Amino acid sequence: NEDQFKKVISHAKEYGYVFQSSEIYDGLSAVYDYAQNGAELKKNIRDYWWKAMVQMHDNIVGIDASIFMHPTTWKASGHVDAFNDPLIDNKDSKKRYRADVLVEDYCAKIESKIEKEIKKAQKRFGDAFNKDEFVSTNPRVLGYQEQINTILKRLGQSLEKEDLADVRALIEGLEIACPLSGSREWTEVKQFNLMFGTKLGASAEHAMDLYLRPETAQGIFVNFLNVQKTGRMKIPFGIAQTGKAFRNEIVARQFIFRMREFEQMEMQFFIKPGTQMDWFKHWKEERMKWHLSLGMGEDNYRFHDHEKLAHYADAATDIEFKFPFGFKELEGIHSRTDFDLKQHEEFSGKKLQYFDHEDNASYTPYVLETSIGLDRMFLAVFANSLVEEELDNNTTRTVLKLPAVLAPTKAAILPLVKKDGLPEIAQQIVDDLKWDFNVTYDEKDAVGRRYRRQDANGTPFCITVDHDTLEDNTVTIRHRDTMEQKRVKIEDLRDIIKAEVDV
Ligand code: GAP
Repeated sequence: NEDQFKKVISHAKEYGYVFQSSEIYDGLSAVYDYAQNGAELKKNIRDYWWKAMVQMHDNIVGIDASIFMHPTTWKASGHVDAFNDPLIDNKDSKKRYRADVLVEDYCAKIESKIEKEIKKAQKRFGDAFNKDEFVSTNPRVLGYQEQINTILKRLGQSLEKEDLADVRALIEGLEIACPLSGSREWTEVKQFNLMFGTKLGASAEHAMDLYLRPETAQGIFVNFLNVQKTGRMKIPFGIAQTGKAFRNEIVARQFIFRMREFEQMEMQFFIKPGTQMDWFKHWKEERMKWHLSLGMGEDNYRFHDHEKLAHYADAATDIEFKFPFGFKELEGIHSRTDFDLKQHEEFSGKKLQYFDHEDNASYTPYVLETSIGLDRMFLAVFANSLVEEELDNNTTRTVLKLPAVLAPTKAAILPLVKKDGLPEIAQQIVDDLKWDFNVTYDEKDAVGRRYRRQDANGTPFCITVDHDTLEDNTVTIRHRDTMEQKRVKIEDLRDIIKAEVDV
């Protein structure tokens, strides 16, 4: 919901996670900077992915390819010709929309009518209300649902056939049926390429037109044979990488959900042709397991299998996550066939084949891809972790319940008072633990306030040094989520923290 989402954005700023880029110049639309805590959280998500995908798989290796690539790469991949968004301008408001997103917005409006019907019925029937039964039998709800399905089907078909006039007609009709923009004068729908162009070289005549990569995947495809040979990799094997990608998104919105500069974590798994459906199933399960291992709630995830497939794919699914604005794509799993390698063979004139010793034959491998946006994962984790809890004493506390393995700071060390040698002991604990974890020292304000600050910051443990520490070398360790406090020996701290934050 909108309020929750606003809280997420302001909390991200207030606690040093995400800032608007170039804020002193009023920012740059859809570009964000990760601040002191955000950079740590982002790094921890990246490491968590890398460990699961590369370190834990004997047959997957990681690379780090350049953002700049030879421009022919993007001809071969299809991005020059087909990486487009359909755009439409409203002549009255002078606003520009992505046509497909606009149509989805109309559908969301119809969906909100369904929500209204549900609320009304809930009131009427009270405890006896059964939502599933209601939505599957109520004629009005079924009518709205049917309307949405028809609209989306028509949109899909028109886009597939590149019938942009029909997309415009659809939007004009929807604006009359359920007004959204308030104005009805639309331009034609035009295709707009999403790649950012730039130039390599100093003099204008000799400069070479380049693109900033719109996905990291192509850096893996063009290196396929180099990695396979030098790593003596045997099929099936994977190549993984994380890195920046750039897209000139027109409707950049929803905070870090859709950005112009973002980071991807991708893995291309090279397989024998014909085995792709087994591997598709395998990676669907593996990737869902990875998500669930973070303990953010099974109900927050769902698969969305694609009916309409991209030209290079023979199967595709999204792992969708329940963001504050609804279920949306978080990760894509695509069976890309041999499309990319074949294209690169054709455009480069070089063979990109694998010799299979078992079969005594060469072939162009098929590829199974897993592709997740790091920033989107960050938003999923951050939004899901931010909760406001009612406490027994009628107060509320704001807690950022980040999975401990991802938290930027694992423990805060707090001297109860700023005297009697307590700060020195606290500092010693910091100096000892920092070899293994990010820890922080905090002596400002009453200890209760310091706890709350660390809760809101997402720090899983607070360790308090008090006068008893001087007697017996024990401290209080407080757990962020349960608020339970225990007395433990200083020498045991490392193991206690490790047990929670190590995976
Ligand atoms: N190589 C396949 C590929 O790039 P994609 O579905 O276009 O597929 C994969 O992108 C993932 O990258 C998405 O699931 C999403 O998490 C992330 N992503 C794509 N565009 C993004 C954007 N503008 N901002 C943030 N993340 C984005």
